[in-house]
Amino acid sequence: MRVLGIETSCDETGIAVFDDEQGLLSHALYSQVKLHADYGGVVPELASRDHVRKIVPLIKQALKEANSSVDDIDGIAFTKGPGLIGALLVGACVGRSLAYSWDKPAIGVHHMEGHLLAPMLEDDAPEFPFLALLVSGGHSMLVKVDGIGQYEVLGESVDDAAGEAFDKTAKLMGLDYPGGPRLAKLASKGVEAGYKFPRPMTDKPGLNFSFSGLKTFTANTIAAEPDDEQTRANIARAFEEAVVDTLAIKCKRALKLTGYNRLVVAGGVSANSRLRENLAEMMQQLNGEVFYPRGEFCTDNGAMIAYAGLQRLKAGQTEDLEVKGQPRWPLDTLEAV
Ligand code: KG4
Ligand code: ZN
Repeated sequence: MRVLGIETSCDETGIAVFDDEQGLLSHALYSQVKLHADYGGVVPELASRDHVRKIVPLIKQALKEANSSVDDIDGIAFTKGPGLIGALLVGACVGRSLAYSWDKPAIGVHHMEGHLLAPMLEDDAPEFPFLALLVSGGHSMLVKVDGIGQYEVLGESVDDAAGEAFDKTAKLMGLDYPGGPRLAKLASKGVEAGYKFPRPMTDKPGLNFSFSGLKTFTANTIAAEPDDEQTRANIARAFEEAVVDTLAIKCKRALKLTGYNRLVVAGGVSANSRLRENLAEMMQQLNGEVFYPRGEFCTDNGAMIAYAGLQRLKAGQTEDLEVKGQPRWPLDTLEAV
């Protein structure tokens, strides 16, 4: 079975072709980063309009690179939610309509299920069950995963998502959008300078996160310290360490609770090197294994949507004819495969 995947939930147009025997045949990505940079964040209406411009050329490109004609495609998967409604509707409209006109089944994919399954695109894919730490710009959650669609959300952020905390803190430090990778780069030049950043919500039981206080703590630290490049790098490093440590503490707790020894880390923030190193070390100490998608599949992409869609289409799940987006969509309401 061969599936065309379409991702348009936020500021990346991602298109891919995935075949269950041959694997990933192509993937094309257009990032709108430059378009939104002047505004310091994603402008939803501009995002929707840019998806409209890019989606058809990228579909043509991905099909060509996959050496696939319409006849070779067995189904179309598009991100149905969660995300920005206008952006979602572009992918849903094009995906659903193409499927109708090509007489193929369509499936609406949950964006976070796409992230969660992204490590399956790698050669050393994890086996079920596992614990997943999903850390993106819109969500932070710990999920007990027993199979595709068998998800129990054990904890999530009560305020900012991890990526959002990176982005907002980066803005405070005068860094351009998207702040996460820029803050990480600045942090890599920082040295240990004795800052005592909090590890929010680690002193009480539970698996929820809260990151908005860290942002305020960073703002106060910046205001109290001299304004030079090295100091900013040191503060960035202390902030990054606090986020990474907090995530690691909660992962360890969730692993203990579930008894699982496989950890999957996905979503944009899983591209962060300090997080990857820290969790790799922790899993080694725990005699477990950690799985990440390759760098380009940590952030939004079409490959993860094609993969997730294929699993659901293979199980006979399909979308009806109505074009819908679902901006809010709890992960644990998905049907098991
Ligand atoms: O998964 P994603 O591409 O989009 C959403 O579904 O939200 O995640 C984007 C988020 C942004 O907040 C971005 O700043 C963050 O991931 N991010 C990073 C890094 N790369 C991307 N945060 C920290 N370190 C990075 N290297
Ligand atoms: Zn995402």
